[in-house]
Amino acid sequence: MNLSSFIYKSKFYKNPVIRKLISLSLRITYLFDGAKDKKICGCSLVKYVPSEYRKTMGATGSQSTCYWVLDSIFKDASIAENDRFIDVGCGKGRVIAYMLWKKYPCSLTGVELNDSVASYAKKWTQKFDNTNIISGSAFDLDYNDYTILFMGRPFEPEVFYTFIDKLENELTHPVRLYYWVDQQSGDHLNDRDGWTMLKREYTFVSHGLFMSRTPQRYSVWTYDPHEK
Ligand SMILES: C[S@@+](CC[C@H](N)C(=O)[O-])C[C@H]1O[C@@H](n2cnc3c(N)ncnc32)[C@H](O)[C@@H]1O
Repeated sequence: MNLSSFIYKSKFYKNPVIRKLISLSLRITYLFDGAKDKKICGCSLVKYVPSEYRKTMGATGSQSTCYWVLDSIFKDASIAENDRFIDVGCGKGRVIAYMLWKKYPCSLTGVELNDSVASYAKKWTQKFDNTNIISGSAFDLDYNDYTILFMGRPFEPEVFYTFIDKLENELTHPVRLYYWVDQQSGDHLNDRDGWTMLKREYTFVSHGLFMSRTPQRYSVWTYDPHEK
C-alpha cells in the first residue's frame, strides 16, 4: 500500500487542520505548476474554466492535472516514436506540455470540446511540430488513429460508459488507456472482456505537499479487441 492509499483509507484528511494545510499546499502546487507551464508553453495553464456542457454532454470543467500527478501516472510509461498519443478532453493542454517536457518522441494530439479552451491550447502548441489540437467532441474521432489514450476524467460516468462502448465497437488494434480520477467510473472496466489493468494507485502527497483536496485514483489499462 503506498502512502496515498494509506491516507485515503485513514480519512485523516478530513481533519480541519489538515484541510487548511491542503489549501496552502494547493496554492504552492499551483504556483509551481504555473511556473513550469511558463517554461514549457510560454503561458500558464492553471486557471480552471467551468464547462458549459456539463448538463447537455456530461462534460467536466477544464482543470489541469498537476505535474507531480503526471510524474506518478507516467512513472514507468514506455512510449515509442511510432506511438500516437491523444489526450481525450485536453483542456488547455497540460498533459501535452508534460509530454513535451519529458521529450516523449511520439505525436501528441488533444481533443477539446470547449472552443475557447481549445483555442488557448492551439495557440501555445503551434510552435511544436509533433502536436495537434482538435476543437470538437471526443465522440467524433476514430481512435484507430491512436495507440495511447489519456483521460483526465473528461466525462461524467454515464458518458464515460458510452465512450467505452464506442471504443469497443470501433477499435481494430490494441490501445493503452491512462485513466486519471477513475474512482467514480473506472471500475466499469474491471473484468470486462479485452481490458487488462496494468496498474491502479492513489495519489495525494508529493514533495511533502498535497496535490488535490482528497486522494485521487488512477488506473492504466490495455484494451485488445482481439481478446473480446
Ligand atoms: C478535467 S479536464 C482535463 C484536462 C487535461 N486532460 C488535463 O488532465 O490536464 C477535462 C476536459 O475534458 C473536456 N471534455 C469534456 N467532454 C468532452 C468531449 N465530449 N469532447 C472533448 N472534450 C471534452 C472538458 O471541456 C475539459 O476541458
